[in-house]
Amino acid sequence: MNDIAKHPLAMDGKDPSNLRGDPIDPERYYSRSFMEKEWQQLWTRIWHIAGREQQLAEPGDFIVHDFMKESVIVVKQTDGSLKGFYNVCIHRSQRLVWQDNSQKSFACPYHGWVWGLDGVLEDCPDRGDFPQGDPVGKLKLSKVRVQTWGGMVWYTMDDEGPDLLTYLAPTAELYKNHQFERTVRVNWLRVALNTNWKFWSDNFNESYHTRTVHPQVPPIIDQDHFTSRYEMFPMGHNRIIQMGRPSLRDRLPDGVPHPFDDALRAWDIDPDSYPDFETKAMQGWLDLKAAKKKLWKEKGFLHYEHLDDEELTESPFQVLFPNVAIAPGADSFLVWRWEPHPTDPEKCYFDQWTMAYPIEGQAEFVNRTAVNPLRLVEAELDFREYDNGAGVQEYSDQVVFQDWQLTAGQTAGWRSRGYRDPYFAAQETRVRRFHEVLNDYIAGNPPGR
Ligand SMILES: [Fe+2]
Repeated sequence: MNDIAKHPLAMDGKDPSNLRGDPIDPERYYSRSFMEKEWQQLWTRIWHIAGREQQLAEPGDFIVHDFMKESVIVVKQTDGSLKGFYNVCIHRSQRLVWQDNSQKSFACPYHGWVWGLDGVLEDCPDRGDFPQGDPVGKLKLSKVRVQTWGGMVWYTMDDEGPDLLTYLAPTAELYKNHQFERTVRVNWLRVALNTNWKFWSDNFNESYHTRTVHPQVPPIIDQDHFTSRYEMFPMGHNRIIQMGRPSLRDRLPDGVPHPFDDALRAWDIDPDSYPDFETKAMQGWLDLKAAKKKLWKEKGFLHYEHLDDEELTESPFQVLFPNVAIAPGADSFLVWRWEPHPTDPEKCYFDQWTMAYPIEGQAEFVNRTAVNPLRLVEAELDFREYDNGAGVQEYSDQVVFQDWQLTAGQTAGWRSRGYRDPYFAAQETRVRRFHEVLNDYIAGNPPGR
């Protein structure tokens, strides 16, 4: 176990005695009635990501976020603030807009009512024809609450719940040294998949599957459960910190080029200067930290300015309950989000946003989770049908593709009479924790209220 101090709110995320031990009935992965409860008790109460702050640069810029059968608009105001509204004309219920855009107002296509950016009615035909009074200047679109964190715009449909930073706690504190708002989204991918959304909550809440599914990872991120740190936070967010060095248990055959050697060379360390693999992994990892601390400025890694020893090399991975995961590394900020299909519990949408820090003189970004190499410029939305892998062929050597390939077997297995309840390893404790927090929401008793 590494000796870096835990946050005071962190529970040991590898200790099942921190759990109640709720059973996980597989019906929750395909039942329509469970899906309906999730809408009523979960999705209408959590904070959702609408998009990135960069998408709302100018007054009138807006993001449309469709979630199940609901739709929300977040729009930049003339004073620079953000407001959020349900995407519906309150006159007669017509949807106002269908995609992100920039406008001076929202004109309803049905009866021509014109709503200002602030949600107040600016004009309508026959203003004098309302016995109950002229609606102009009086009626307002229905609001949702909007806040920002991590360079992202969030909203909630819940008027009563905690504010964003309380909901995310202590996430903002954990990553205060990072500069997420400086990143560039170099890949913006959305994939339609045939599995329940909770496949991803389960998958991202454990790294036990990594050796089996992602063999390219252990040589660069230590997968040993006894060297990683596991944390669970009261609001339902779970984190693992893995060491940014090769696993000693995953030694590559002699003579095979090692990716850690490239990491060392990038910081002017000679990988051949170590007597053996074990010394290279353990001393090289310390030397890498030292080199980064010494050379960050001259190499143009300005985003390293406030990073500490852990943040310079380690690999944090955090699930923000219930449907977002972040990997805030030293050089990239990776965000995944998974959302249910509007009507089918066995379908979902999966988003992968690859955010990179700009470095002077570098035109490309290389990352294992994205199609390589990527130009260091803002990407457009790339929407795909998974289609058994055929719709995303160029991702086939990537970590995320390897997880997509598990979805069909998992979705089938949940319906088998031969499967009852998971038999978890300690390092999978966060998966049951996720379901227990979900159960609390479904029971009308979410954390923090
Ligand atoms: Fe995975």
